[in-house]
Amino acid sequence: MAKTSAKKALQASPAINIGISEKDRAAIAKGLSRLLADTYTLYLTTHNFHWNVTGPMFNTLHQMFMTQYTELWAAVDPVAERIRSLGHPAPGSYAQFGKLTSLPDAPGTPPKALEMVRILVQGHEAVARTARELFPIADKASDEPTADLLTQRLTVHEQTAWMLRSLLEE
Ligand SMILES: [Fe+2]
Repeated sequence: MAKTSAKKALQASPAINIGISEKDRAAIAKGLSRLLADTYTLYLTTHNFHWNVTGPMFNTLHQMFMTQYTELWAAVDPVAERIRSLGHPAPGSYAQFGKLTSLPDAPGTPPKALEMVRILVQGHEAVARTARELFPIADKASDEPTADLLTQRLTVHEQTAWMLRSLLEE
């Protein structure tokens, strides 16, 4: 009896009505899913490089990669939860992330330290492109929370790309 009424209460859950059309919510959730997959992939590569970096820059890079992977790890949660707030399931498996991400997987054999830095520059720039691509869609739908999230992510990825790039310049 109690079970039946709980089920009925669930069925009675009202349709999402936040002023963003179903079509726009789906398009934004799709873009955010790509951003989530990119962020997670870059997180994993950065953590991998934290473990495997070698050479005279070990201390600097080991520490720097830790700061970066910690930030990326914290960033996946608000992206996933925005997808949920828009009424869509958040991807969260290696298979889904592998299909959605625009980033290559980390190399099987650890590259040299500066090659790691180069890979991460390209990774941060790729995530920035994914976030930027979604911006006009979120903006057009007046989805301020998504636009705000994208702005924050763009700031981090572009700043981190600059910092990493500086290590490669004379
Ligand atoms: Fe560590």
